[in-house]
Amino acid sequence: MLEIADGYYDLPRGTLPNVVTFLEMHACPPARPDPPNVRARLRRVEHPERAWYRALYHHVGDAYLWYSRLALDDDGLQAVIGDPRVEIYAVHCDGRDEGLLELDFRASEACEIAYFGLADALVGRGIGRWLMNRTLEIAWAHPIRRLWVHTCTLDHPGALPFYMRSGFIPYKRQLEFARDPRLVGLVPRDAAPQVPMI
Ligand SMILES: CC(C)(COP(=O)(O)OP(=O)(O)OC[C@H]1O[C@@H](n2cnc3c(N)ncnc32)[C@H](O)[C@@H]1OP(=O)(O)O)[C@@H](O)C(=O)NCCC(=O)NCCS
Repeated sequence: MLEIADGYYDLPRGTLPNVVTFLEMHACPPARPDPPNVRARLRRVEHPERAWYRALYHHVGDAYLWYSRLALDDDGLQAVIGDPRVEIYAVHCDGRDEGLLELDFRASEACEIAYFGLADALVGRGIGRWLMNRTLEIAWAHPIRRLWVHTCTLDHPGALPFYMRSGFIPYKRQLEFARDPRLVGLVPRDAAPQVPMI
């Protein structure tokens, strides 16, 4: 185990630090009610096109500096999104795709919620809860023993408590360091102004 002394540590310029919390559950929790009047539809996208996937990933994730999938070349991305054990869903609302759900069943008897996110316009309208209810139904319909997710300090501040209210138990933290994806051209420079570029 890494020994870390208490204190502050300087980081190289252009480095984006991030505290990641891992959460898991081992059985499907009791259903929470769907908020009323949710007018959204969840659509499984089989054989997603890379351009469609990247556009939705930007649409949802730029505000939170999501970058991992953007760093993959075509073959790398295709290997993930073209794998039949990776289920990709779009949240369709107000006439367009406004949310991304990606469930990764590649490890045996487990499912990772690899991506769970709504575009800004949908946040806070009850659609997150509705989407989590659909996620739990889909994931636990598979022969899994564990459902897990991680969220980080760059994500929406409501995400971690939302996952905890959903029945996930936090079990591990990690520190992640990355080159700021705006500085390496993966994400537009004006994205996430709440996170200064240093
Ligand atoms: C994390 C995220 C999905 C949460 O969704 P959200 O839209 O903020 O949450 P909701 O509005 O659906 O739900 C929040 C609560 O308000 C309630 N609520 C919201 N609108 C409501 C309404 N109109 N009527 C009744 N209840 C409502 C929900 O029931 C829920 O309560 P509960 O948790 O006690 O069940 C969303 O913030 C998001 O996508 N953020 C951006 C991407 C991100 O950070 N993703 C996480 C990465 S790991």
